[in-house]
Amino acid sequence: MALENKLGITDSAALACEEEKISKKKAIRLFETGMLDALEAGKFSSLKAIHKYLFEDIYEFAGEIRKVNISKGNFRFAPLMYLEAALNNIDKMPQSTFDEIIEKYVEMNIAHPFREGNGRSTRIWLDLMLKKELGKVVDWSRVDKEDYLLAMERSPIKDIEIKHILGAALTDEIADRELYMKGIDHSYYYEGYTTFRTAEL
Ligand SMILES: Nc1ncnc2c1ncn2[C@@H]1O[C@H](COP(=O)(O)OP(=O)(O)OP(=O)(O)O)[C@@H](O)[C@H]1O
Ligand SMILES: [Mg+2]
Repeated sequence: MALENKLGITDSAALACEEEKISKKKAIRLFETGMLDALEAGKFSSLKAIHKYLFEDIYEFAGEIRKVNISKGNFRFAPLMYLEAALNNIDKMPQSTFDEIIEKYVEMNIAHPFREGNGRSTRIWLDLMLKKELGKVVDWSRVDKEDYLLAMERSPIKDIEIKHILGAALTDEIADRELYMKGIDHSYYYEGYTTFRTAEL
């Protein structure tokens, strides 16, 4: 069964397809209109705005903090009762070096504030931080999908792998739209993992 959506789609494969099409169009517009550059780097309010813009035509919950506990693989993202406090703390984390920015990204992934679409919106949020603070972005075409996912799974325990992978793919081509779009490419979806509700605490 598909997540409840504004499109009235009940089949999850059909929803994934429409969701990809619509959110990619919105991502291009976010970039082209300069809306993205107008956001403050490293704040939850900016991530919220990105998520809302990408998914507002698809999900009621676009830009809204999730109301359920979620997990992927064996990892439970921040429990609801700590989520807002976690987001307030992340806002205050420093972001002046590459390491600090990745540490902030890892914490935001652990928070996983939305019901769905965290990966795509948070990679755009990460790129915005890298762009504004360091004048660089990730060339996602040079990031192997499996390596990235393994490093993200590992990141709550040790962030050395994700730092290595993303650090090796940095580029100063910050105005390249194709590079930016690679970060939300559907190929980042992977088989065998679904976001599911866990028992509410
Ligand atoms: N086991 C895990 N532990 C921690 N983080 C994980 C784990 N598995 C995946 N992730 C992170 O969660 C993201 C997926 O979250 P979500 O499904 O909400 O976002 P999405 O935008 O729909 O998907 P995607 O990132 O695959 O495009 C991945 O990109 C990765 O960064
Ligand atoms: Mg997903």
